[in-house]
Amino acid sequence: MDLFDIRGKVVLLTGASKGLGKAMAMGLAKAGADLALCARSLEELRKTKAEAESHGVKANVYRMDVLSRASIQESISSMIKDFGKIDILVNNAGVNVRKPVTQLAEREWDLVLDTNLKGYFLVAQAVAPHMIARSKGKIINIASIMGTVALDNLVAYASSKGGVVQMTKVMAIEWAKHNINVNAIGPTYFETPLVAALRDDPDRFRFINERTPMGRWGQPEELEGTVIFLASQASDFITGQTIYVDGGWTIW
Ligand SMILES: NC(=O)c1ccc[n+]([C@@H]2O[C@H](COP(=O)([O-])OP(=O)(O)OC[C@H]3O[C@@H](n4cnc5c(N)ncnc54)[C@H](OP(=O)(O)O)[C@@H]3O)[C@@H](O)[C@H]2O)c1
Repeated sequence: MDLFDIRGKVVLLTGASKGLGKAMAMGLAKAGADLALCARSLEELRKTKAEAESHGVKANVYRMDVLSRASIQESISSMIKDFGKIDILVNNAGVNVRKPVTQLAEREWDLVLDTNLKGYFLVAQAVAPHMIARSKGKIINIASIMGTVALDNLVAYASSKGGVVQMTKVMAIEWAKHNINVNAIGPTYFETPLVAALRDDPDRFRFINERTPMGRWGQPEELEGTVIFLASQASDFITGQTIYVDGGWTIW
């Protein structure tokens, strides 16, 4: 359908070396988008690139550390040279440190907030001028259900994701006049390396199933539809929103 057509669009995707980033790269490639794939590990990124290219799109890899403003700017300059434009940004690179409030070290708090919140801010801040110059763009921030609900041991992670939900709204207001949509996706637990320890713990695995109205975890490819929707013309009048892809977790 033309409404969901993203063929020829260029997507900058952070955290594309594994997990949800890699899964979204495949969904976007199947829908025909060209990809600027970013992460720190080039070797893993090259595997994502090869899989994406098997769907007939162009994909380049860029070493980008979202903790470094210089690294972000350098890789964005390279991709503008290579592709000539960035139509869509998917801010996805993220980490977690699970500890009770009293045991979380300051450097662990900083790592989670600097990656998950400041990293999204710096990448969006560097990409936005290119979108503003063309009076069009789509920014999709990967938040989490933990941006609106909470569990123990997630003080830094939930704080960062709540920040992403709010940051999405402010960017949406500021850039609406430039025809840039800024939205977020709030996934529940999906089976990726980030949550492997919980997946392997039978009690936590069962708790998450029982806590979810649909009774199960998400599979990474189940994010494809939402990211394509938010990247496409079909969502042109939606901005500042967070869409929860959570099997119903946030209903309760
Ligand atoms: N899996 C879930 O259940 C779940 C649920 C809700 C939300 N999310 C969110 O979804 C996003 C992806 O999570 P995931 O489960 O796919 O995690 P993952 O499998 O651990 O992948 C994380 C990605 O982020 C990249 N990354 C981490 N630190 C980085 C840095 N400093 N600079 C650049 N890239 C960095 C990693 O690449 P390198 O290590 O190669 O740099 C990797 O590609 C995160 O924002 C996460 O919070 C996940």
